Amino acid sequence: MRKPCMAANWKMNKTTGETRAFLDEFIPLVQDVKNVDIVVAPPFTSIHAAAALLAGSHIRLSAQNLFHEEKGAYTGEISPAMLTDAGCSHVIIGHSERRQYFKETDEMLNRKVRIARKHALQVIFCIGESLEEREAGKTFEVLNREIGEGLKEVSPEGIIVAYEPIWAIGTGKTATTEQAQEAHYSIREKLAALYSNAAAQEIRILYGGSVTPDNIDALMRCADVDGALVGGASLKADSFSKIVKFNTDYKQ
Ligand code: 13P
Repeated sequence: MRKPCMAANWKMNKTTGETRAFLDEFIPLVQDVKNVDIVVAPPFTSIHAAAALLAGSHIRLSAQNLFHEEKGAYTGEISPAMLTDAGCSHVIIGHSERRQYFKETDEMLNRKVRIARKHALQVIFCIGESLEEREAGKTFEVLNREIGEGLKEVSPEGIIVAYEPIWAIGTGKTATTEQAQEAHYSIREKLAALYSNAAAQEIRILYGGSVTPDNIDALMRCADVDGALVGGASLKADSFSKIVKFNTDYKQ
């Protein structure tokens, strides 16, 4: 059985003070939750402060990005060793905002995944189609390419996939449960082809895109939805804790 995972992607939000205030409120709200993996991804500048507050807790710390080299003359970049040193166990790679605004290619993302795994970081690898691609009937082609290229020569351990249809991110327009399940099922089939059926059954596939406390239960009822990568609704401790405490009856 795949353990559900709920991850907060704060994107470019929260100073260190705001990070501390969130965690002071959030940690007690979820301290009894044992059957869900909880991950928080603050901006780089808040990772150190978050690590201090999360020491000894079961909440895991993620970065939102990393660079695909070990060290050197790469002004402004952050290496995998810097992330593990700062207390991260996870890293988000391939978010559509990175692909779109920072022109990160499948090949660059594959290098990022490989170096992250070399440093034993758990990778939350994001994929998803644009509205244009969906309307052109290219959804599965895009998902297959992003998985095939991004996870090339990467073993399945330590990989979490996040399906984030770009048209659902920050728009309030969630994928229907049918759309989510159909995409997640096809992603798992692709993972089975890439690895093995057994490996694909173990990999968690999170849904992302306008997830809220109101729609999480329906999404989690989908057989292949194993959790969520949450943007806007993860910025408030109260709403993210409600997502973490979704109705687990469907996943026991
Ligand atoms: P929203 O939950 O704000 O739609 O963002 C989703 C997302 O991009 C998480 O990585």
